[in-house]
Amino acid sequence: MNKKHLTVKKLDISNLPDVMNLQQKIISGLHPDEQHFILHRTEEDYLKSLNGKSSNMLGVFDGEELIAQTVYVMPHNGELRDMPEFRPDIPNQDIVIYEAILVDPAYRGSSLMKRMLEYIENHALDNGRKHSMIQIAIDNPASWINALHHGMAITKVDYDPNDGVKVLYLEKRITHQTTPTLKQDNKKTYSLHLGENIHTQIPALFNKMQYLIRNGYHGVCLDKETQSLIWQQQDTSRTNILDFRNIMQYKKVSSL
Ligand SMILES: CC(C)(COP(=O)(O)OP(=O)(O)OC[C@H]1O[C@@H](n2cnc3c(N)ncnc32)[C@H](O)[C@@H]1OP(=O)(O)O)[C@@H](O)C(=O)NCCC(=O)NCCS
Repeated sequence: MNKKHLTVKKLDISNLPDVMNLQQKIISGLHPDEQHFILHRTEEDYLKSLNGKSSNMLGVFDGEELIAQTVYVMPHNGELRDMPEFRPDIPNQDIVIYEAILVDPAYRGSSLMKRMLEYIENHALDNGRKHSMIQIAIDNPASWINALHHGMAITKVDYDPNDGVKVLYLEKRITHQTTPTLKQDNKKTYSLHLGENIHTQIPALFNKMQYLIRNGYHGVCLDKETQSLIWQQQDTSRTNILDFRNIMQYKKVSSL
């Protein structure tokens, strides 16, 4: 494929046909087991983001062709926001939520998702937002790897309250500073080996990740050399000793 110069722009109602076409292309490229990776949105849904006040859309174009898109929501105080089950303690006016991230299969492999998140983050900062968040299906590593590369951390692992899918919640405190805030200190870390094929590990990841989070750890980055997901302890008042033989036991208790 002959890639032209890629350009980025905020989408409006005139882009609705392109947005629907790209979504259809991606849905038809997903395996039946992967359909839950994205919410299948109607024209009406997208219209709310294309002419809405708190919901917006960013698009990446190759020439005239829309090749990637993202919905991002900057909710207002008093408004019922998406993902109310995650970080209800943060005021709406501080938040940017990423949703419906789609990259044309012909353009994958260039971390376009990460690049879109960087672009939106800057825009969100200019709008006074301080905290970004996203929910991703656990069996969609292409998406959560991009979010980790973007500096987001896995801080909650649960079932989606709407459809029961196993999901990861990632978040990031956003700032104009360029210094990374996550890896700077001597916090305890735990390395969760994923191996060469992450997909074979996914069935076991849900319980392991929940266990780590209950013990005060956040998933902060991938270490390609050791093929591991690195977890960093946030709360030193909790136990430091991780023993995965206890996972079944911990599943039986409601809280630690
Ligand atoms: C998720 C998506 C947007 C990412 O596209 P992208 O930005 O081109 O991402 P890339 O293909 O560059 O991959 C990013 C990382 O994921 C890894 N990755 C890609 N596909 C993978 C797969 N099937 N399994 C495991 N890892 C994968 C890549 O190796 C890369 O990691 P690296 O930079 O450490 O090498 C794209 O796959 C997509 O549109 N998927 C369908 C819709 C969807 O799931 N959207 C997200 C909803 S939250």
